[in-house]
Amino acid sequence: MKESLEALEQSAFSEIEQAATPKDLEGLRVKFLGRQGTIASILKEIATLPPQERPLVGQKANTLKERIKSQIDEKLKSLGSVPGGKMPREDATLPGASWSTGRLHPLTQVIQEICDIFLSLGFRVVEGPEIETEHYNFDALNIPKSHPSRDTFDTFYLACPGESESQARDDKWLLRSQTSTVQIRVMEKEKPPLRIVAPGRVFRPDAVDASHSFMFHQIEGLCVDRDVRFSDLKGALSLFSREFFGPNTRTRFRPHFFPFTEPSAEVDISCILCDGKGCRVCKQKGWIEVLGAGMVHPNVFRAVGIDPRRFRGFAFGMGVERLAMLKYGIDDIRLFFENDLRFLKQF
Ligand code: DAH
Repeated sequence: MKESLEALEQSAFSEIEQAATPKDLEGLRVKFLGRQGTIASILKEIATLPPQERPLVGQKANTLKERIKSQIDEKLKSLGSVPGGKMPREDATLPGASWSTGRLHPLTQVIQEICDIFLSLGFRVVEGPEIETEHYNFDALNIPKSHPSRDTFDTFYLACPGESESQARDDKWLLRSQTSTVQIRVMEKEKPPLRIVAPGRVFRPDAVDASHSFMFHQIEGLCVDRDVRFSDLKGALSLFSREFFGPNTRTRFRPHFFPFTEPSAEVDISCILCDGKGCRVCKQKGWIEVLGAGMVHPNVFRAVGIDPRRFRGFAFGMGVERLAMLKYGIDDIRLFFENDLRFLKQF
């Protein structure tokens, strides 16, 4: 009997030691200390022992019962539970649970940053519709009927419910392919002086790859007043480049053609990676093209009823993804739209 008590002690202690959860320990409590448990059955057997052995074995069994009980309680405490209690007790020494806060999408952040720069120059932020007509996307912007960008390969046209091909109107519905549409919408409604930036989504049927997406974001700028000059455009965009890319960024205006501006320019910045020395990112040119701009074409003013002899204006348009990719060294436009938290959390 004495030996079996010792063996029981050994096995009880090692089982308690190995218990991993309060539930395991509850099981062991029932197994050893319960009414049908091992100790109880030993105590029952005492009656079968010779009378002189009974007190000693009884005493030993009771001590063992106490020891198993306190062993279980100890172990419970180490698992963070209150002995005899059902609820786990808080461990005040544990580090607090950290909340992962949400954040703005990197493109939203970049759009806000760019708009803020122009807000500081007295511009205001406006938005226009993503579903547009040819009038706003092309005609009013002095883009001729034969212009290749009107091709269905370059523009998403919308099939309108209930409208057969023969009924199709002259002014077709489409998904805007540029935010320049907002210039027209604003000038149609408001009289100069005007200073606006218009961020938003644009759509083009491009095959998706590392640098193309069928949907991306642009920010359009427009400034119209009596005496607006090309030098004002240069000043505004040079300031923008320095604010957005860093104080040492230089700007270069190259002659270009856009139907809605005359003269027109493509604007380059000195490569932000090599500072103009030539590297992989700028393809050894030292310069990177970042946006298009120019002086508002008289025909655009005429289309909205503004007299081009009284008013002049400058306009510009930039691709948000491209600017964000340059600024943060992102090499694949698809990362913006896959919503992988490992990417998004870096901003
Ligand atoms: N709309 C042009 C594009 O999507 C960008 C642009 C160029 C906008 C020159 C302008 C501008 O306002 O003056 O490629």
